[in-house]
Amino acid sequence: MSDGRPVLIYDSGIGGLSVLREIRLLLPYEPILYLADDAAFPLGAWEEEPLTQRLLELFSRLLDTHRPKATVIACNTAFTLAGDALRQAHPGHDFVGTVPAIKPAAERTASGLVSVLATPGTVRRAYTRKLIESFASRCHVRLVGSDMLAEHAERELRNEPVSDAALMTEIKACFLDQGGRRTDIVVLACTHYPFLANRFRRIAPWPVDWLDPAGAIARQLVRVLGDRADGSPAIRRDLALLTSGRREPGMERLLAGFGLELGSSSQCFDNQSRL
Ligand code: DGL
Repeated sequence: MSDGRPVLIYDSGIGGLSVLREIRLLLPYEPILYLADDAAFPLGAWEEEPLTQRLLELFSRLLDTHRPKATVIACNTAFTLAGDALRQAHPGHDFVGTVPAIKPAAERTASGLVSVLATPGTVRRAYTRKLIESFASRCHVRLVGSDMLAEHAERELRNEPVSDAALMTEIKACFLDQGGRRTDIVVLACTHYPFLANRFRRIAPWPVDWLDPAGAIARQLVRVLGDRADGSPAIRRDLALLTSGRREPGMERLLAGFGLELGSSSQCFDNQSRL
């Protein structure tokens, strides 16, 4: 039964929209609150300690103010760092996380060569190493950290085209050709990257499977919500909030395309203070 409370979707910017579009397919009537923590973008460049503190503080205030029925952390960089700490801090709340799709990649690869394309933060995480040890010990997993791709995706989605050469610089290390075997799967381990996947396909030196976990995240949310999912249509636009408080027409247009209306930063938290 619906109680009108939204599902909160969090990312540092537009990346979580790649998860939102899958959620909309499975849960079309679900009220959504989209939170882009763009004041902290790019999260991939943060040191672990201050980022954990920021996320803990941010979510205490968000959950207090908006009382979401569940939260999707649509960000590998944030969830691989602070997912456990957030669950501990809010034991009664459902967090659906995003982690590099290393397990499905290991199950699917034919060549045994898998690359994980992610932010520098996600590449450094103990969580990511553990996923490789637990699920992909029989594969050769190459971790490729990119400083620029999340930024490139932000620009591309706002109609500021990024050159093939700039994209190639970031992805070329994913392609390994050794002993007659080639990389056949690249895990898109940052939610910004699916928006560039068609560009990647065009410039890749050979075809690979670009693995996007968004559908699996949406299916997990369906399981977590169970009969709390909203089942009836409502005429409304869902709200998007930006922690920076910035308002750009390009951003508003983009959000509108995902059925989101940009609210004012004063709607972020009850006490109106900024992070
Ligand atoms: N979209 C985020 C992720 O999935 C990262 C972007 C950033 O560096 O802020 O990792």
